[in-house]
Amino acid sequence: MFNRIDHVGIAVEDIESALPLYRDAFGMDVAHREIVSEQGVEAVLLDVGENHVELLAPLGPDTPVGRFLAKKGPGLHHVAYQVSDIDTALQALKDAGLELIDEQPRVGIRDSRVAFLHPKGTGSVLTEIVEPAVAH
Ligand code: CO
Repeated sequence: MFNRIDHVGIAVEDIESALPLYRDAFGMDVAHREIVSEQGVEAVLLDVGENHVELLAPLGPDTPVGRFLAKKGPGLHHVAYQVSDIDTALQALKDAGLELIDEQPRVGIRDSRVAFLHPKGTGSVLTEIVEPAVAH
């Protein structure tokens, strides 16, 4: 069902403070930067081969990532698997009995279609599936 790991999401307090580690020390190229209002984050994608690290900084304390930071502090936030057809994948995961946060795909970074699974059913790992936009 999953083609590969699309990205690993990492929660940070703010993007500018996080970039020196990933861009400069780790030498990753910044592929994309975007404010994803729907998810309440500013996000940066950095290249690791064909995969990415996704840095997520909250737009405010009352957002999912803002609440995550308040509770757990900065660090690993989610794993995202790439799929070719998110509607089919989401249905298959639902049929497998997994609890979905998103019953329907929504718009993610770079016009991708994304959906999150509830960590309850995934061993406490927040899990995202991503169907990239055709151009990416
Ligand atoms: Co993500």
